[in-house]
Amino acid sequence: MRQASGTVVVVGGTRGLGRELARFYADSGRDVVVTGRNQAGAEAAAAEIGGSTRGVGLDLAEPHSIADGLADVGEVHYLVLAAIERDTNTVREYDIAAAMRLATLKLVGYTEVVHTLAPRLSRDAAILIFGGLARDRPYPGSKTVTTVNGAVTSLVRTLVIELAPTRVNALHPAIVGDSPQWRDMPSERLEALVQRTPIGRLVTMAEIVDASRFLLENQAINGINLAVDGGWLCM
Ligand SMILES: NC(=O)c1ccc[n+]([C@@H]2O[C@H](COP(=O)([O-])OP(=O)(O)OC[C@H]3O[C@@H](n4cnc5c(N)ncnc54)[C@H](OP(=O)(O)O)[C@@H]3O)[C@@H](O)[C@H]2O)c1
Repeated sequence: MRQASGTVVVVGGTRGLGRELARFYADSGRDVVVTGRNQAGAEAAAAEIGGSTRGVGLDLAEPHSIADGLADVGEVHYLVLAAIERDTNTVREYDIAAAMRLATLKLVGYTEVVHTLAPRLSRDAAILIFGGLARDRPYPGSKTVTTVNGAVTSLVRTLVIELAPTRVNALHPAIVGDSPQWRDMPSERLEALVQRTPIGRLVTMAEIVDASRFLLENQAINGINLAVDGGWLCM
């Protein structure tokens, strides 16, 4: 890989898909920052990822604290926003506090990270935002998740305009079968999900890393909301 200047920042990089992507770039010799909700956990994850990786604790649901949390981050080449606090929440039994946390985290928190780091983006910087297939395939209780993932689509489009020439894209994964969130689910539940996936299996973390790299690294790709779902949306 061409050695570019600037850090790879993965917000929500202490676990799951963000961590897998952070590990790829750390293994490639890049300076990486991973964030999670607390400093000790982020530092522990950074040590496990290895290479030149630093951990930063910040809570996206507390947007006023984000700038302080990112104060020590220098020039940024790739910014990945992958953090999530899952909220199963129906309109009939509406948990306002949980809905406000997720909506704040994903819409205001993500945006405040971009606002804070915008002056530090390198000339050829790129931003990648994670949404999810719940945007297009709601299920009972997905209302907040579906809504904020729908808003990710719009967020990408406004950021492309406001941050030009910085490229901004989003990746919307289907169920990632080997991710920490899903790998220990009962096999009957996973099998039911496989039945809805034309490729006959769930997508993998390696495929998410591959698609993330395409969105971050291909310099013609801008304003794209890419479903990585094995064809689920065709079903
Ligand atoms: N896994 C899937 O199958 C799947 C499917 C569709 C979409 N997605 C999307 O892909 C992205 C990554 O999912 P994942 O399954 O890899 O997530 P995950 O394993 O649950 O990891 C979530 C990450 O977000 C961080 N985080 C949670 N709440 C936070 C907060 N309030 N402030 C700051 N950081 C916070 C966590 O840090 P700490 O735990 O260290 O605090 C952790 O690093 C998400 O946007 C998710 O919606 C995933």
